[in-house]
Order: sequence, then structure tokens, then C-alpha cells
Amino acid sequence: MAYVIRHNELSAEEFILLWSSVWDGTPSLEQTKLAMVHSLFRVSVFDDNNIIAMARVIGDMGLCYYIKDVVVRPEYQRKGIGSILLKEILSFIDSHGISGSYIAVELAALPDKIGFYEKLGFSSNNAKRLRLMYQVK
Ligand SMILES: CC(C)(COP(=O)(O)OP(=O)(O)OC[C@H]1O[C@@H](n2cnc3c(N)ncnc32)[C@H](O)[C@@H]1OP(=O)(O)O)[C@@H](O)C(=O)NCCC(=O)NCCS
Repeated sequence: MAYVIRHNELSAEEFILLWSSVWDGTPSLEQTKLAMVHSLFRVSVFDDNNIIAMARVIGDMGLCYYIKDVVVRPEYQRKGIGSILLKEILSFIDSHGISGSYIAVELAALPDKIGFYEKLGFSSNNAKRLRLMYQVK
């Protein structure tokens, strides 16, 4: 496998490119730039010079990490790259969380993706995800 893994280099433009390979309604460049700057950790995977996967984590380092935007380009899925992204994030947490402590690593997933996360040790509970699409004044 000749993939290249990069830390904290994911740009807003790359984020939007990957997002649009799997989801509709891409976020604005301005919003995405702000989100990249304020993420705790960003990981991206390249095949030659082409970005093929990304993930990022937000959180407070002490009590909670929240995984966001785990994306593998469709033609590269089911080759182990999604697992690499999650392992890179867990490795970041190992390097920055308090050694020996238990910390919540959370995310939201659609039902058809839960099996992927379960293979990596995640489990769901009865809590429901609540969301307000708030328009900033
Ligand atoms: C979900 C996603 C990140 C998985 O990435 P991937 O590179 O295909 O996953 P991997 O190849 O590392 O798979 C690891 C294991 O999970 C399994 N798996 C992958 N996708 C799965 C799914 N949707 N449901 C159940 N199991 C799945 C694989 O078969 C593999 O199992 P194995 O270890 O027994 O061989 C990828 O499908 C994706 O980007 N989807 C579109 C964007 C998206 O929905 N992201 C998730 C947001 S919550």
C-alpha cells in the first residue's frame, strides 16, 4: 500500500472536494476554513498526489473528543482506509489525553455505517442526537 498519511494539512478546499464525493450540499469555503483551523486534529490520506480520505476530531482534550467528517472516496472504500483514519485519531488521543484516564470518544453515524464503527470498538446507546440548524446573526 503506497498511501501517504498527513496530519493537520487538510485544507478547506480538500475537505469540500472529499465531502462532495459522498454528500450533497457542501458547506461554504469560509465556514470550512474556520472549521479546519479550530479542529483539534485533521488526518488526510493521499494516493500519489490525490486526496482520497479525511477525518477530523474536535473536543476539549480532557473529557471528550468528537469525531467528524470521516470520508473515504467511493472508489477507495472497503480497502481498510477508513480504519486507518480512525486509528490515526485514536493515536492522536493517546498522545494528548491523560495517560490511564477514560475519555469519551463520540460520533454520530447513520444506521448503515454503524457496523463499520462497531468493528473498531464503538457501540451505540439510547441517547438521540439533537440538532438545531441555527442561523448565525
Ligand atoms: C464509512 C466509511 C468511512 C468506511 O470506510 P472504508 O475505508 O470503506 O472502511 P474499511 O475498509 O476500513 O472497513 C473496515 C471494516 O468495516 C467494514 N465496513 C466498512 N463499511 C461498512 C459499513 N457501511 N457497514 C458495516 N461494515 C462496514 C469493512 O468490511 C471492514 O471489515 P473487516 O475488517 O471485517 O474487513 C466509508 O464507507 C465512507 O467514507 N462512506 C461515506 C461517508 C460516510 O458515510 N462516512 C461516515 C460518516 S458517519
